[in-house]
Amino acid sequence: MDAVRRSIQPSTDDGEELEQIEISVLLEAIYRRYGYDFRDYNYGSIRRRIKHRMSCLNLNTVSALQEMVLHQPRVFQALAADFTISVTEMFRDANFFLAMREQVLPSLKSHPLIRVWHAGCSTGEEVYSMAILLKEAGLYRKCRIYATDINPSSLAQAEKGIYPLHKMQQYTRNYLSSGGKRAFCEYYRVRGHEAIFDRDFKSNMVFAQHNLATDSSFNEFHLIICRNVLIYFNGDLQRRVKQLFYRSLASAGYLALGSKEGIENIKGGEYYEIIDAGNKIYRKKSRN
Ligand SMILES: C[S@@+](CC[C@H](N)C(=O)[O-])C[C@H]1O[C@@H](n2cnc3c(N)ncnc32)[C@H](O)[C@@H]1O
Repeated sequence: MDAVRRSIQPSTDDGEELEQIEISVLLEAIYRRYGYDFRDYNYGSIRRRIKHRMSCLNLNTVSALQEMVLHQPRVFQALAADFTISVTEMFRDANFFLAMREQVLPSLKSHPLIRVWHAGCSTGEEVYSMAILLKEAGLYRKCRIYATDINPSSLAQAEKGIYPLHKMQQYTRNYLSSGGKRAFCEYYRVRGHEAIFDRDFKSNMVFAQHNLATDSSFNEFHLIICRNVLIYFNGDLQRRVKQLFYRSLASAGYLALGSKEGIENIKGGEYYEIIDAGNKIYRKKSRN
């Protein structure tokens, strides 16, 4: 009875609740219309992105945005790009890459073929950074690198391996801090304002669209790198994705997450050995 009364006479402080309903209906509508499932993304982050898009379009309600999203695919694409934040850089968190060099790559040497999965690779800077590490460790030749993301336009950029030349100064500093000993400019050639990464790298890379929220495992990997992606998901989706990673890892395979992420909410200790707590590097325990 109370619920009926409330629906007939909404109180003035129902604004927040109403907005939650509108957001949940918008996400459901996107899923049904376009097949993209953002329903289990972090609510606060999704709400901020929606507000941003509303302000760009001069809209007052989420429902008004929903109407545009449903009828104008371009508005959906803009909102989906807002949801899938693509910020990245080469050798981001140099200490992580140093830890990779010292604590992970040496133990991958014994594999005849090393399969690496970059999940949520964005525009590819992280993928080329790892490829450089693998090359310097003498392992690149026997690697297959699978780089996936939900966002097709990020993947298209990743596949090109072309980045603004002005970013190379910062990337060179990051590379040196990650333990790099070579001249970083050996890895790319310059064309106008662009740095074009060595095409040899691409021979062992496969770029493909893969949605961590809905798609399943597609291979068995010795190393899975998924950094700064899980923070955008809620607890349920984080657990789903971590289970997906666990199933996709070979025995004693490595999992690397972002600095604000971890394995705590999947009974980490039972399933993983901690290799480097600060750099969020774990190794799957063999279960007999
Ligand atoms: C902040 S970027 C992280 C890029 C890189 N891993 C790094 O740490 O620099 C987050 C990436 O996750 C991707 N992403 C978001 N939701 C995803 C999903 N459901 N499945 C796969 N990738 C997703 C986004 O498109 C974006 O490229």
